[in-house]
Amino acid sequence: MKKGYFITFEGGEACGKSTQINMLKKMIESSPYKDKFVFVRDPGQSPLGEEIRKIILFAKDTPNPITELFLYLASRVELCEKIIKPALNEGKIVISDRFYDSTIAYQGYARNILPIKEVLHLAKMSSIGLTPDLTFYLNLSPVEAFKRKGNSVLDRMELEGETFHLKVKNGYDNIAKKNKKRIINIDASKSPENIFEIITNIIKDKTKINL
Ligand SMILES: Nc1ncnc2c1ncn2[C@@H]1O[C@H](COP(=O)(O)OP(=O)(O)OP(=O)(O)O)[C@@H](O)[C@H]1O
Ligand SMILES: [Mg+2]
Repeated sequence: MKKGYFITFEGGEACGKSTQINMLKKMIESSPYKDKFVFVRDPGQSPLGEEIRKIILFAKDTPNPITELFLYLASRVELCEKIIKPALNEGKIVISDRFYDSTIAYQGYARNILPIKEVLHLAKMSSIGLTPDLTFYLNLSPVEAFKRKGNSVLDRMELEGETFHLKVKNGYDNIAKKNKKRIINIDASKSPENIFEIITNIIKDKTKINL
């Protein structure tokens, strides 16, 4: 029986997910609520999930897009069964860097390998019935995001790459529109401090924890 609270961070590349999560970690580490929070990343975190993450990110043989989809799903099943579900059952607040919305945006909307409905169904299966209570979508145009990445990444940005990332953003925008109650759509072009204030105020309000 779920007693905890489940928060996810979503958005395209370099929108600032890890920056915000790290700021949150820092704040929580020095608070009396340190043991109440569990931080995870998707894909990964569980031992087998981390092995799968390595395959997704570093396999020499580029996976078929369907293989890639199933690897993400497999990693998430492990993460949910072995880490998130037990933590929520203990009443913890779980914070995940990406979750199933990433699958819908990247493998669904951007790769366009299966109808969105099917990807949505698979993504939900992979979370073994767990749904985030709250999702922060850090909304940033790919053009702004790639400026943040610096020149080395800009060099690799061919037209096709940019088209892909625009599809990811379009996917997230649609997901956010369809899930207005769960997803907070944040203008990620604001300063990290500004975004952090918005995020912490919402977390305090929803969890009733005075960080
Ligand atoms: N609000 C912000 N304004 C300007 N730059 C930012 C902001 N937030 C993060 N950055 C910078 O953008 C870069 C990418 O940030 P970060 O790694 O947090 O993004 P991410 O969403 O976790 O990316 P990825 O999807 O690749 O993991 C970093 O150099 C970071 O310092
Ligand atoms: Mg990151």
